[in-house]
Amino acid sequence: MENTQEVKVVSLPRIGEAAPEFKAVTTQGDINFPADYKGSWVILFSHPADFTPVCTSEFMTFATMEEQFAEANCKLVGLSVDGLYSHIAWLRTIKEKIEYKGMKNVEVKFPLIEDITMDVAKKYGMIQPGESNTKAVRAVFIIDPKGVIRTIIYYPLSLGRNFDELYRALIALQTADEFGVATPADWRPGDDVIISPAGSCGTAKDRMDGKEDGLDCKDWFFCTKKIDKEEVLKRVLKK
Ligand code: BEZ
Repeated sequence: MENTQEVKVVSLPRIGEAAPEFKAVTTQGDINFPADYKGSWVILFSHPADFTPVCTSEFMTFATMEEQFAEANCKLVGLSVDGLYSHIAWLRTIKEKIEYKGMKNVEVKFPLIEDITMDVAKKYGMIQPGESNTKAVRAVFIIDPKGVIRTIIYYPLSLGRNFDELYRALIALQTADEFGVATPADWRPGDDVIISPAGSCGTAKDRMDGKEDGLDCKDWFFCTKKIDKEEVLKRVLKK
């Protein structure tokens, strides 16, 4: 029997690839992405819809943390498939009326992209039909100063994001770049980092015999090293 089912192949952006380019209208004027953000880290994130409760809690949290992200050389850019006037009205309502978990009078100063055509959302794989054909899922793209996608996280409509984790991931990526290391489970500045076994200097035996300075090897493939929190803050956050 002939198979008449159409298989639609959707190409999604991937880690390690250049962030797809687009031009868009936002609540802070027009942007040319990622060109306008070269030299900065940027978190591009989508939300399902304006005037919805989970999204409102997320925007208030992100806006409250904007300065913290800026200190880590990271800009924020939001997107939903709503229009500009909806965005403006929603953000004004948040500032004027919403008080939540001690946050009030919250002004969202980062750009929120209007994407009524869904062109950008589709380019970034933010429309996931199993979840919704008409709303973007909660996507997060962490993009580095060269415009390369470094981390992608997708959440469904019902699940609000953990913004401490997004900040942790950003600082871990920056630490990995700055010190040439990897970061273990639940890493935070001040915790030991991981030294990659592949191609690093010294032999496995040297490592296990403690002949490589400052390494703590649990086995030949699993070595950690201490980097003080102050060192991370100085070199990554320039503090
Ligand atoms: C919300 O942000 O509350 C939401 C948005 C879309 C679907 C479900 C919840």
